[in-house]
Amino acid sequence: MIIAVDGPTASGKGTIAKALAAHFGLPHLDTGLLYRAVGRQVFLDGGDPGNGGDALAATSFPDSLLDDPHLRTEETGGLASRVSVHPSVRQALYERQRQFALQEGGAVLDGRDIGTVIAPEAEVKLFVTASVAARAKRRFLEMQQRGVKVTLAEIEDDLRRRDERDTNRAVAPLVPAADAHVIDTSALDRDAAIAAAISVVEKAL
Ligand code: C5P
Repeated sequence: MIIAVDGPTASGKGTIAKALAAHFGLPHLDTGLLYRAVGRQVFLDGGDPGNGGDALAATSFPDSLLDDPHLRTEETGGLASRVSVHPSVRQALYERQRQFALQEGGAVLDGRDIGTVIAPEAEVKLFVTASVAARAKRRFLEMQQRGVKVTLAEIEDDLRRRDERDTNRAVAPLVPAADAHVIDTSALDRDAAIAAAISVVEKAL
């Protein structure tokens, strides 16, 4: 069974994907981490994320980079969103994601284009979303806990910019698959969002 979980930044898709993987005993791949690693590698190389050649070269990042705590920062998220517009970068990361999806026994993958491009045959597709205000508030609380100085308005701006780039890019834009179940987490807490997702998957089995 392949479970595809797509959605915008800070929608709760990562939390939901992790919880589904634990609940159904499936391996989980956070595909955003691969794009983040490419973004980070471009930065380490002193390259330009807007340059397709620089970004493609960075797809051969070492696996050890996936453990780098810098991958989780907003800066790297922004770099990831910039390198991810290049078709050559998406192509280079395709095989790795595809193999993960096709492993025996199934898998949970979360990202932007799992249900549309990476695993269009997935048995269950979830599109997890939430209002910009709800997502910005979550991200803001997370940042405050980590002691990062940033305003709610700055976070909202950044989310809108990333949504805009992810939704309007020519290749694999962020759109729900026609057969995706949409879960809006704006008014749901963590447990309620996870319960909603488990119930969708159980009905689809
Ligand atoms: O999900 P996360 O915020 O870690 O993703 C970082 C960026 O990587 C996204 O803004 C998006 O541009 C890109 N991405 C993508 N396709 C995926 C996963 C992430 O384009 N499957």
